[in-house]
Amino acid sequence: MIGKLNHVGIATPSIDESVTLYRDVLGCDSITERFALPEQGVWVCFVNLPNAQIELIEPYGDDSPIHGFLAKNPKGGQHHVCFEVPDILAARDEMRAKGAIVLGTGEPRIGAHGVPVIFIHPKNMGGVLVELMATPVGAH
Ligand code: CO
Repeated sequence: MIGKLNHVGIATPSIDESVTLYRDVLGCDSITERFALPEQGVWVCFVNLPNAQIELIEPYGDDSPIHGFLAKNPKGGQHHVCFEVPDILAARDEMRAKGAIVLGTGEPRIGAHGVPVIFIHPKNMGGVLVELMATPVGAH
């Protein structure tokens, strides 16, 4: 059911410091400006790779869900992986039918790429928080 790997989400206490790593150490020359997603409590910045993205996420506001992750991983680290799916509602229903736990109400939210996303609880996913996103229009 899943399609392309769209991005790997990396939580960081400082997008600015992480950008330094990806730009100056790893040598990536295509990194977006940061922008805020207040409803999701994150600052976001994309590191563009030839085949996928790294999504840098930094807490935005006191209620950010990233604070808990950074409390356990103070330097940051891999937070989630995101796969594209052709139909987000069908994907949600299929996940539930297979016993996966869809976070929140299960209603897709608009994610950092401007398309609907859902998240699957890591406890039934081998410890990996999985994001499923509708394939962006015109992406492939
Ligand atoms: Co993501």
